[in-house]
Amino acid sequence: MKSNLPDELRRSGDVPADVPAGLARVSPRLDRIARRIHWLDTTGSTNDVAARLADLGVEEGTIVVAEAQTAGRGRHGRTWFSPPGAGLYVSIVLKPASAAPLITLASGVAIAEGIRAATALPVELKWPNDIIFERRKLGGVLTESSAQPGARPQVVVGFGVNIQATAYPSELAARATSIESETGRPVDRGLILAEILAAFAGRYADLRSGKFDAILSAWRRLAPTFTGSPVEWDGPGGVMRGRVLDIDREGALLVRVGDTVERIVAGEVRWRSS
Ligand code: BTN
Repeated sequence: MKSNLPDELRRSGDVPADVPAGLARVSPRLDRIARRIHWLDTTGSTNDVAARLADLGVEEGTIVVAEAQTAGRGRHGRTWFSPPGAGLYVSIVLKPASAAPLITLASGVAIAEGIRAATALPVELKWPNDIIFERRKLGGVLTESSAQPGARPQVVVGFGVNIQATAYPSELAARATSIESETGRPVDRGLILAEILAAFAGRYADLRSGKFDAILSAWRRLAPTFTGSPVEWDGPGGVMRGRVLDIDREGALLVRVGDTVERIVAGEVRWRSS
């Protein structure tokens, strides 16, 4: 088995000193999450490493963390800016019994809950799972799945959280922020990671036991300013405009456009000023 491990994992180092204390505080709540941790200095994308580990048969809940990524991926084919010392870059290997459509929403909920628990910063959600503070993004989730015929689906949930202020590329500078920029003080990275993982374990347990309403209600509670906002998005016939109404039971976004309600299942919506 060892010789089949990706090169980065054969070189992977110990968990850094600021992490074990946080994990110890939440350990009764971690369930199957983070029993095995691979901590890397630098890798291309932690999602790729986690997917290779999933192929090798690692246990569910295994996590891959990197101090920096050279090819971090975001949603919609974007790059996720992942310099050293600025953020958390984490991927979790999951093997759900069946495809779990609400995993995307549940992941965002868990990250927001974890950040709130560790820092008291009242972060919110923007559909489907951007972590925001006052309309600036400080975290995001990229969920990637693969399924072999007859086998359990393999899902990698990758999340990035901006912890410290950094020199964002110009196209991000006006839209991005970090936890420390907003709290105005240093925060405990290990505790943030631990609280996110513990919240994730709880929300993943909700999913497995069919408590979908709990996830949807939590999402709504964490998106108080997004709900009701004027938004726009790219529809098949051009830019569409409306006002956010709610999410439905499948996690799709419902937007009021005049007298009708549009249902958005994928893609991105942008805020409009009015
Ligand atoms: C988004 O666009 O909002 C999703 C960003 C997800 C970034 C994380 S960082 C860890 C993991 N590895 C990646 O390459 N992407 C995700």
